Amino acid sequence: MTTESGSAVPYGDVRTLFSEAEISTRVDEIARDISAQSTADILVVAILKGSFVFTADLIRALHRAGVRPQIDFMQLASYGTGTESQGQVEIIRDLTDPVEGRDVLIVDDILDSGRTLAFAREQLLYGGARRVQLCVLLNKQARRVQEVEADFVGFECPDEFVVGYGLDHAHFYRELPYIGVLDNPTP
Ligand code: IMP
Ligand code: MG
Repeated sequence: MTTESGSAVPYGDVRTLFSEAEISTRVDEIARDISAQSTADILVVAILKGSFVFTADLIRALHRAGVRPQIDFMQLASYGTGTESQGQVEIIRDLTDPVEGRDVLIVDDILDSGRTLAFAREQLLYGGARRVQLCVLLNKQARRVQEVEADFVGFECPDEFVVGYGLDHAHFYRELPYIGVLDNPTP
């Protein structure tokens, strides 16, 4: 496949790992777990870009579970367009709401090396958040470099590169309604 500009689109074969139905069921379960522990004025901080699909479904599941969250966004980068982390995390777009005294739930697509979420948690605590909890759809435990555990996890993920449901490879595949393993990704 090629784009209008003629560059190659890395649209290879994707092996389904978690189907649309499985994800939907699990998102409702996570929301119920969160509601059992959350206070009235929870602030959801979605880590862009990867978590936008999960967060959109999660906040509506939270609503069904009786939670009335506020939402803010933080865009962090530790990956280029390849599949390996570059080690350093930087803020591309910061929060707009003050976090001082707030109970914050950070939402991300995947916990991999742990660098992104360790950094995000540190930023929010530094900003004066009262409590910071972490919620990830996928946990790739095998790849952990920083010591960080999520409070809420959707699925344990094998040590393979996955795409879909917000997760990308070179900014493609985010629109897939399911999550799958991308075999032989181009660098
Ligand atoms: P960490 O800082 O290494 O934990 O990486 C977190 C970020 O890396 C995630 O928010 C994703 O954007 C990206 N990432 C890690 N593993 C994968 C993967 O298998 N597929 C797509 N993106 C990934
Ligand atoms: Mg990404």
